[in-house]
Amino acid sequence: MTVGPPAPAKEPKYYSVKRHLLEIIGTLPAGSPVPTERELTARVGTSRTTVRQALSDLVAEGRLIRRQGAGTFVAEPKITWPLQLTSFTEQAAAIGFRAGAELLSARRTRAAGEVAARLRLAVGAPVYRLERLRLADDTPIALEISHLSAARFPGLLGRARRSSSLYRVLTERYRIVPVDAEETIETAPATPRQAELLHTDTGAPMLVLCRHSFDADGVPVEFVTSWYRGDRYTFVARLLEHAGRGTVEPRPVY
Ligand code: GLP
Repeated sequence: MTVGPPAPAKEPKYYSVKRHLLEIIGTLPAGSPVPTERELTARVGTSRTTVRQALSDLVAEGRLIRRQGAGTFVAEPKITWPLQLTSFTEQAAAIGFRAGAELLSARRTRAAGEVAARLRLAVGAPVYRLERLRLADDTPIALEISHLSAARFPGLLGRARRSSSLYRVLTERYRIVPVDAEETIETAPATPRQAELLHTDTGAPMLVLCRHSFDADGVPVEFVTSWYRGDRYTFVARLLEHAGRGTVEPRPVY
């Protein structure tokens, strides 16, 4: 009996159209228009639905960009965003952008569920909730919701209204520096509101980062969720040799 390589899984039609498109894209500079749905349908001899599905995949992956009323174009390369325990403001500056923050909402509320557990507060303890749109060179990059203990950071809401950097406020006003953090990354489809704020389509893939940071005494500082457009950013983490510093516990479910 001869044992050959496993038979290839059956490839959906739209996938071969996608591969054909990738070949075209590979030869074109960013900003070049790609053939219209109608032209592609005629060229590859398939249905318009199939072509549309291939194009949508490439848009979601950040290889193509759709401009309302103008057509579909080859996208700019993604922005590489290092994963470090720095502030958004410092990180943006380090890769050559001017950072900004638009405060969408800032309020005092009561800790519940995961927020209480993460900040090690009793359920119902007062917390501040900040919702900010993060900007780089005035372009919306991420949506960020931060929770911090109100008892620990009195007056934070007013200060957050006046400063675009939360970490600067924590350092300068409260003498608190996050020195240790756990960050998780998951994906989720953009909600209609996220899509509007980040100039993308509802349902587009988002990279969702959750940061749980601690000060030098091991006390929680913040619990933050940030949504980034999956088609525009590549996160890079530098991995160093593990020197017996312990393992990261799986994230508990609250
Ligand atoms: C990043 C982190 C957040 C942190 C923020 C502070 O975006 N993911 O957890 O709160 O930086 O940035 P800034 O000081 O610019 O407000």
